[in-house]
Amino acid sequence: MKRLGLILSGAAAAGAVAVAAWAIQSEPAAEGVTFMGEPVTAADIALGQEIYAVNCASCHGRDLEGQPDWKRRLENGRMPAPPHDETGHTWHHADSQLFTITKLGVGAVVEGYESDMPAFEGILTDAEIRSVLGYIKSTWPERERGFQAEVTGDEKAAP
Ligand code: HEC
Repeated sequence: MKRLGLILSGAAAAGAVAVAAWAIQSEPAAEGVTFMGEPVTAADIALGQEIYAVNCASCHGRDLEGQPDWKRRLENGRMPAPPHDETGHTWHHADSQLFTITKLGVGAVVEGYESDMPAFEGILTDAEIRSVLGYIKSTWPERERGFQAEVTGDEKAAP
């Protein structure tokens, strides 16, 4: 009887751990998101989501899914808008690069490169760019976030 009690309480403890892990996973992903070394708050992320819907979703997709057939060059020789979720390559770039691309356009990172990605300088403030990128980062699974933290050289955000 004593043994059965032990087994049961062991199972209950395992169950409690599983529930706790589930609760952590289902929370909004604000936990541990940083941008250029600074923590991104849940409020930043909520604001970033609104900024995204107004300024980015028309090309990058409402759910960050990108334009259809985004890997194929358009007739004008330029690339379609890639997804910002884990199926794209936004997470391959360091925070500082994402910031520069959004503020000044892709040509600011790759000289002479022609792109349909608009520069948001004068449209969004630096803080708004930070929020929208913080929102995008908050949607990435742990693996992509960890990779991108390493590329960024952000030890605080690395798992
Ligand atoms: C008019 C369409 C359009 C809008 C609006 C737009 N983008 Fe883009 N974006 C693009 C295109 C097209 C590319 C691909 C650039 C290329 O490779 O030529 C791109 C690329 C990017 C990249 C580089 C991604 C990578 O993996 O290399 C980032 C970051 C980015 N956009 C962020 C944003 C953010 C943030 C917003 C909103 C504030 C936004 N974009 C709004 C069209 C757009």
